[in-house]
Amino acid sequence: MTSDPEATTVEQFISDLSLGDGEMLAALHRVQERFGFISRPAVDAIARHFHITSARVFATVSFYSDLRLSPPAETRIEWCGGPACRLKGGENVRIALESTLGVKLGEATPDGRVELREAQCDGSCHQAALVWVNGRVHGPIGGADAVRLARGVSSGERPTSEDGDGGEGS
Ligand code: FES
Repeated sequence: MTSDPEATTVEQFISDLSLGDGEMLAALHRVQERFGFISRPAVDAIARHFHITSARVFATVSFYSDLRLSPPAETRIEWCGGPACRLKGGENVRIALESTLGVKLGEATPDGRVELREAQCDGSCHQAALVWVNGRVHGPIGGADAVRLARGVSSGERPTSEDGDGGEGS
């Protein structure tokens, strides 16, 4: 055990899950569900629990785009990098989002309020090209829509799904 209260909490949480040796990924998802993200102490606690290095846990978290090492921003824009969205102008949407927000995929704005991440296709391709804003789908959208959406969330607007049909995304 460690004296770090967060690590202690995470260690207890993992221990209570009673997961087997091959269930590190399940542990990561459960920790993220419970704490919102996988903190550095959580990485170390998981490494100790599964008798592996923290570097291996980091590598696993980095591999899966749905796992995160930092707290979620108030507004999360997920850009779909799937083939149908790319075919329908998704790259223009990405470029518009990045240039309007001033961040690259995987980054948050300096005030930490908005983050832009890449997400995988969830089968909503009929709405391509699309993004999800806090899990709500916006599509089909183009570059101009993406600029408007990014300006809106930057100014604190709560976006509606007016650019798409309002279905639910990932
Ligand atoms: S490729 Fe974007 S939702 Fe399927």
